[in-house]
Amino acid sequence: MYFIGIDIGTSSVKIIAIDELGKIIKSVTREYPIYFPKPMWSEQYPEDWWNKTIEGLEELLEGIDRSEVKAISMSGQMHGLVILDERDQVIRPAILWNDQRTEDECSYLNDVIDRENISKWTGNIALTGFTAPKLLWLKKNEPDNFKKIEKIMLPKDYIAYKMSGVFATDFSDASGTLYLDVKNRKWSQNMLDILNITISQLPKLYNSYEVIGKIKGELAHRLGLNKDVKIVIGGGDQAVAAVGGGVVGKDQCSVSLGTSGVVFANSNEFAVDKANRLHSFCNASSSYHVMGVTLAAAASLKWWVENINKSKNYDSIINEIKDSDLDNQVFFLPYLMGERTPHNDPYARGTFIGMDMTTQREDMTLAVLEGVAFSLRDIFEIMKEMKINISEITINGGGARNYFWCQIIADVLNVKVNKVNSDDGPAYGAAILATVGYGLFDSVDEACENFIKTTHTIYPDGNKVALYDVKYNKYRQIYPCLKELFRK
Ligand code: XUL
Repeated sequence: MYFIGIDIGTSSVKIIAIDELGKIIKSVTREYPIYFPKPMWSEQYPEDWWNKTIEGLEELLEGIDRSEVKAISMSGQMHGLVILDERDQVIRPAILWNDQRTEDECSYLNDVIDRENISKWTGNIALTGFTAPKLLWLKKNEPDNFKKIEKIMLPKDYIAYKMSGVFATDFSDASGTLYLDVKNRKWSQNMLDILNITISQLPKLYNSYEVIGKIKGELAHRLGLNKDVKIVIGGGDQAVAAVGGGVVGKDQCSVSLGTSGVVFANSNEFAVDKANRLHSFCNASSSYHVMGVTLAAAASLKWWVENINKSKNYDSIINEIKDSDLDNQVFFLPYLMGERTPHNDPYARGTFIGMDMTTQREDMTLAVLEGVAFSLRDIFEIMKEMKINISEITINGGGARNYFWCQIIADVLNVKVNKVNSDDGPAYGAAILATVGYGLFDSVDEACENFIKTTHTIYPDGNKVALYDVKYNKYRQIYPCLKELFRK
């Protein structure tokens, strides 16, 4: 038996097939472009996601016994606004999670409607990346497009819709819209009224591991698959990456070093930080999680290596760093796309500070790796304030392939960092959800117990923990000094 997981990422779609023992049989990736049509805007064409998904599936299935494919599930970049008209055509490019155009709309929601109300209705407050402010922006700036809206969906829901013809979403992804009542797991009528939308424009809500339907006949035919392949809705990439890393139990925590960086902690009960600095969302099993997001994690390293150093050789640039460099006083704020947690500031910007005539490239590379780790620690500190007890984390995402970076994270957060037998985070998590939806396991937790094993643990190094405490305390003083300079 084979199960397929599809992750609609920001730079590419990753598709994997696993067998009933959880072993990865094959994996393919297809890239697509991201567009920045104006400063602070970030868009993609949903049609690109779909075309590349189909191309990827065709390649994935070559050489695989297609009759053994039983179920397909999805994960996807969260928050993106995808809108379809009455003919099911995409109305405009999707406005993505890292788009920062909605500052005015967020001020309206948080200050005029009032953050206490928004938090009471949704468990969260308005952030530029979330979907609700995007809808308000659209209503004001593109009223003709707004009027045409028949269906509003999230990136992975578009793929699920194209595959099954069923208009569906799941609680974890819907949590990031700011129009879900997260605690009570239903759309928030108060928010729908403010946004001028109706429930008929929204997808039906499911748990991430639930079957929404079968693959469309013509698609099954095109891909050579059985007509009864089940489509399992899946979830938002962070919640599904947690599944892929086996982070499903109470208080378990993961750090994701993808384009964005995320600290994610499960909880059985719905919990909200008093200042709403963390997101309070549903997870992909049947409970909740809190998480904080630093917008440019692996994206900061990519920018430093590829844009600035004009290289693709990450290892050779990182390997220049020597232990003695750790004493340097060079700092980097990784706010290349503004920042979400804890500053919630679309105008925050990337900054190097503290160079002198002896500073070498390796000092700056180190500052980038440390800056991302410090921005994760900012999130970690809020979790500590909320009395979430974290002594170890599971790390995933592309950046986690670099052990040196994982060690820095262990030292900066002063926790054990576990690596597990799957590096494929959200795509693997989606494949696990497919097994649960198919009925191979009774629960997501049971599937994870069977499939995920810790392969390696990185321990914090006492001396470096002390050094990084000092460095972190300096780091956290930089943004407040520069905050006003970043504004227009
Ligand atoms: C989560 C978030 C990002 C995107 C892209 O809130 O904005 O992690 O899901 O990966």
